[in-house]
Amino acid sequence: MGGPPRRRARPFAEGISSLAILFPSAPQGIRIAAIGDLHLRTAIPDHLADDLRSIDGSADLLVIAGDITDGGKIPEVEIASELLSTIRTPIVAVLGNHDRRGVRRKAMRDILERAGVRLLDGDGYTMTLTDGRKLGLAGVGGYGGGFWPDEGSDIVSARLTKAVGVRGRREALRLDRALSAIAIEDLDATVVVMHYSPTVSTLGNEPELKYWMLGNSLLGNVIDSHAVDLVIHGHAHLGNHIGQTPGGVPVRNVASHVTGRPTVYDVAARRRVLDLTPVEDRASIGQVS
Ligand SMILES: [Fe+2]
Ligand SMILES: [Fe+2]
Repeated sequence: MGGPPRRRARPFAEGISSLAILFPSAPQGIRIAAIGDLHLRTAIPDHLADDLRSIDGSADLLVIAGDITDGGKIPEVEIASELLSTIRTPIVAVLGNHDRRGVRRKAMRDILERAGVRLLDGDGYTMTLTDGRKLGLAGVGGYGGGFWPDEGSDIVSARLTKAVGVRGRREALRLDRALSAIAIEDLDATVVVMHYSPTVSTLGNEPELKYWMLGNSLLGNVIDSHAVDLVIHGHAHLGNHIGQTPGGVPVRNVASHVTGRPTVYDVAARRRVLDLTPVEDRASIGQVS
């Protein structure tokens, strides 16, 4: 899918602190703050507003990787709007499965967009920074389906319904189209945002029996067929922070249950990603070091 990938150098190791030591004068890339799985219901958690406002001035963009609300209900969306409209940093988001539980989806989208949130749903989006650099974003919700035979084991694939497979393939195709749409631009970095995971390497302590609900390898295959520098996802609450696709593209699981707060990445072309906010993964397995 998506034609031949851009020629790349071998991916850097993911040991970010060692990178900073090796390349102390590396030019600053594009700074992206990210969080997912806020699951907002009736009130804004005390720390969350402060955490998000702290991004202003230190990041070029805030990415929200879905499950903004717990049930997609309009009062929950209004709480989210109240919170996000106070952030000065541009916001790009995808919806998660919990956001899609609501029946008034058009109203939900309108409220979020009025609060300054750019929602991506199978879309490519190019953002030009004040200094002229260009960031390409491709956003899609994603879906389940599992990772076998590319990654993981074949525990439940025979029991998956046809509908899961169809929707998983459709989401992968939409991601492919979104990436193809922005590939024609001269981009300084390309970032994929989605709710579901494209790899098992960020699923940490999630039970293997649930992998089919957490993402699928078609998404990873699409990413590996394009010139992607970073993938941001959520949804895997028991997962770990740092992973990579089978093709070596850096992946970050930013579910708030994993990171506890927004994390900031310094992203440049050829997968040069510096993790500026250290996260102590609570997951002890499945990590890529
Ligand atoms: Fe979630
Ligand atoms: Fe989710």
